[in-house]
Amino acid sequence: MAILLTDLTAATMQGGYGLLPDAAIVMDGAIRWIGPRADLPAEYGALPHSALGGRLVTPALIDCHTHIVFGGNRAAEFELRLQGASYEEIARKGGGILSTVTATRAATPEALVAAALPRLDAIMAQGAGTVEIKSGYGLTVADELKLLRAARHLGTLRPVTVTTTHLAAHAIPPEYAGRADAYIDEVAIPSLAAAHAEGLVDAVDAFCEGIAFSPAQVERLFAHARSLGLPVKLHAEQLSDLGGAALAARFGAQSADHLEYLSATGIAAMAASGSVAVILPGAFYTLRETQMPPVAALRAAGVPMAVATDCNPGSSPMTSLPLAMNMACTLFRMTPEEALLGTTAHAARALGLADRGTLAAGQRADLAVWSADHPAELSYRIGAEALHARYIGGRLVA
Ligand code: NIG
Ligand code: FE
Repeated sequence: MAILLTDLTAATMQGGYGLLPDAAIVMDGAIRWIGPRADLPAEYGALPHSALGGRLVTPALIDCHTHIVFGGNRAAEFELRLQGASYEEIARKGGGILSTVTATRAATPEALVAAALPRLDAIMAQGAGTVEIKSGYGLTVADELKLLRAARHLGTLRPVTVTTTHLAAHAIPPEYAGRADAYIDEVAIPSLAAAHAEGLVDAVDAFCEGIAFSPAQVERLFAHARSLGLPVKLHAEQLSDLGGAALAARFGAQSADHLEYLSATGIAAMAASGSVAVILPGAFYTLRETQMPPVAALRAAGVPMAVATDCNPGSSPMTSLPLAMNMACTLFRMTPEEALLGTTAHAARALGLADRGTLAAGQRADLAVWSADHPAELSYRIGAEALHARYIGGRLVA
């Protein structure tokens, strides 16, 4: 049954904020009508009705890049980095991602779900209605499947859409040290085939970096993804420029993510392919990086920018999209409007989801209601609890 929301300001996120003051929304599972309250068709006037006290309504936020399914944590590595060790040094000594792999392999599926649930809850409590979850801490066929199944299961436990991304090409496990090509052939590609056969894969990702996989190795994996009809995305240009974004663009990638070292050539390739630039300020902040992603050049080239938490145990132990938006503005000079597009319309596009991320008739009724007057407040506040309520598929959820 449909309901009517009034006494609200809507940020429709169509083109920009798309503000509608004194708006009304009619919805069931989808939005049926949205517009100025004065224009509300008379037929909707008698519906069950909630007045939102003048609050701000946006599309429910979308976290388009997370790694929330993992065992253990990396607080000890955080301390080492504060004493001067770099992320790359720790990784080359077998710490970093590989220490999480050890803890993740040892964890049961139930333990992984139980550990991830508070992270998912925290992201939802800050306004999210859709969360992407990557694998990448198993690095065997069986363990990558375990992570993807856990991610799918999480989506059934909460009122949220979970999308899954296969990221077996995240790190080279010790048993394949010096044999990255064999790892791609024997683990990354077979785990992708097996996970896809089980319906566990919405997209395919890889980490293209000196401490991970080369462009040629990523390309072989992407060719396999293409043969399965799966979209790709890429951790590219985070610590150095290997031309990963341009490679991803050649495969029509949904997104290239991080991008601190992205070149002008990479920007042009992304603009031509329509790939989204996913900006991840939590990792930049945590690793105390100094090279900023080329936000002004991406803007000038018309590349859509998304913003995500990158929630993971090493480079970004962060579970708040509004905090990621604040960092994107303060650290990278994105505008608050770009930051909110980055967690709504552009994040939807980074996941290939056309049915959400904006408020319009026909879109899924995934809404966030904020105790705020203007959408810039969502990026402006630091550590605020501004979320008042979420509606997911048209239903009010806790
Ligand atoms: O997105 N860059 C590679 N992967 C993650 C970090 C994973 C980890 O350190 O555990 C990222 O930053
Ligand atoms: Fe990541």
